[in-house]
Amino acid sequence: MARILVTGGAGYIGAHACKALRAAGHEPVALDDLRTGWREAVRFGPLIEADLNDLDATRAALAQARPDAVMHFAALSNVGESVRSPGLYWRNNVGGSLNLLEAMVETGVRAIVFSSTAATYGEPDVELIDEDQPQRPINPYGASKLAVERMLDDFEAAHGLRTAALRYFNVAGADPEAEIGERHQPETHLIPLVLDAAAGAREALSIFGRDYDTPDGTCVRDYVHVWDLIEAHLLALERLMGGARGIRLNLGVGRGHSVREVIEAAERVLGRRVPVRDAPRRPGDPSRLVCDGSRARAELGWEPRLSTLERMIADAWRWRCSGGFGP
Ligand code: UFG
Repeated sequence: MARILVTGGAGYIGAHACKALRAAGHEPVALDDLRTGWREAVRFGPLIEADLNDLDATRAALAQARPDAVMHFAALSNVGESVRSPGLYWRNNVGGSLNLLEAMVETGVRAIVFSSTAATYGEPDVELIDEDQPQRPINPYGASKLAVERMLDDFEAAHGLRTAALRYFNVAGADPEAEIGERHQPETHLIPLVLDAAAGAREALSIFGRDYDTPDGTCVRDYVHVWDLIEAHLLALERLMGGARGIRLNLGVGRGHSVREVIEAAERVLGRRVPVRDAPRRPGDPSRLVCDGSRARAELGWEPRLSTLERMIADAWRWRCSGGFGP
């Protein structure tokens, strides 16, 4: 059993991490400033309300929690917003991570699993993206996550920290027991918006571009179930606690689905129509992002089990129907 500080523990992925850690017999302690997180999502251990931009508060949180390791999810993650307000992303994602790492070194916390992103690869020119592809982000969000990866390299070399950076593709779905799920304010992600449209909570789903160079003209992404994704975090944590260092892995299932396919799957699973409207391309959207996930499988023994479109949509819908996090 280990005590794990989960930054962003009130957010979508962080809350799922807390639940899975608890289920595996660990003690999660959530750290969140509740700017984008939800108090209702903190159900699996205590919450320390603190902002990583505040170095003293971060030090105090580590001193209070005395964790064996950290899972670091706290970050802003909206690509469009990052293009409009890059300062926000450099301050929060990079500055906050720097404070966290410095406080970890000061308090002797030795291991960290970091939430990175496929957005660090930018616009790759290969079909399947493996970890050897050059990281050339095309927006401040991706650049901020890549900067933190570099920071992890340096802190690992200088201070003997053990680090894992897991580069997510498109995370979707919800807790299979429907206790927690995905909610953003405002929502920008495809699957929750498709469900809103199916439920009549929005008039129609906008399809951002039908003229991409893909089989049906809409963008292709690699969707991974949040519960599978978190399982990989537990495996990476286990490796770090066992002495491994420098884990850098892509997390996706290696299968692409177009926006059209997501809509059709939702219509099948929900038995409802999803009203759609055509909209212009969203700036900064690559046409296709699909992972070569073989290294995570080989290095961690990770086997995604829930990452079908049908299952992700069904779990997200079930959570939504159970009331979500209130109105
Ligand atoms: N899309 C629509 N209509 C919408 C919303 C999305 O057509 O209303 C399309 C997008 O254009 C994109 C696809 O659905 O092609 C998926 O969009 P999301 O916004 O759900 O996800 P992204 O692929 O843009 O981004 C996600 C994460 C980022 C991360 C990125 C890395 O949200 O944090 O994956 O691949 F950087």
